[in-house]
Amino acid sequence: MRNKLLQFINTRRSIRSFTKRKVTKKQLEQIAEAGLRAPSSKNAQPWYLVVLQGKEKNRIADCIRDDMKNYDCVPTNVTDGKKIKGMFDSTNESIKIIEESSAVILIFNREVYSQGFSEAKGKRIDARQLYTYAVEVLGLGACMQNILLAAHAQNLGAVAMADVYPGAVKIKKLFKLEYQFMIGVAIGYPAYKTKKREVNFKKLVKFVE
Ligand SMILES: Cc1cc2nc3c(=O)[nH]c(=O)nc-3n(C[C@H](O)[C@H](O)[C@H](O)COP(=O)(O)O)c2cc1C
Repeated sequence: MRNKLLQFINTRRSIRSFTKRKVTKKQLEQIAEAGLRAPSSKNAQPWYLVVLQGKEKNRIADCIRDDMKNYDCVPTNVTDGKKIKGMFDSTNESIKIIEESSAVILIFNREVYSQGFSEAKGKRIDARQLYTYAVEVLGLGACMQNILLAAHAQNLGAVAMADVYPGAVKIKKLFKLEYQFMIGVAIGYPAYKTKKREVNFKKLVKFVE
């Protein structure tokens, strides 16, 4: 494939085991910069990144371990208010990934549009308010993907981890942040090789002419 960017996009895989080799600060700066260059609605740049290495990184694992004891952190369905089954079943596995990784980038939402949406516990939220939040999250997803691709472009491995969420309250306190925690990305040198993932064009894409 001649187009390198397409090659990076199509060969990126989530990596969940890393060698002991450390990622440099320079590499992490480049990865974070790629995150900041993501598109966002009205160029609002809803993200805030915390880049962690060494002992500070492992404090994230401790936060998750602590807060996992608190069952309240498991999100509930909008329709029936029941806990979403299996949502954090892989969290213990993800704690190990964090500890083995060389760095973790935490992505926060500054809630520039939705302003306090994440704190609106028990309040009725209408579809337009929800849309302001969705627009922010779309930008944050682009930021996350740029981070994953920038890591891949440096022959590093990375995985996005929603499993960090159970530690969100403690993590916010730890870094004295008011922003909403969204996702963590663990980064390191891959301990194994990956193959391209199968994609299902028939089911997931419709061409109309
Ligand atoms: C928003 C989001 C959250 C994710 N959370 C986790 C996670 O908590 N733990 C994990 O091991 N992988 C997580 N992943 C990685 C997915 O499992 C992975 O992207 C998917 O299985 C497809 O595999 P691939 O990335 O290798 O193509 C997450 C991915 C996304 C985009």
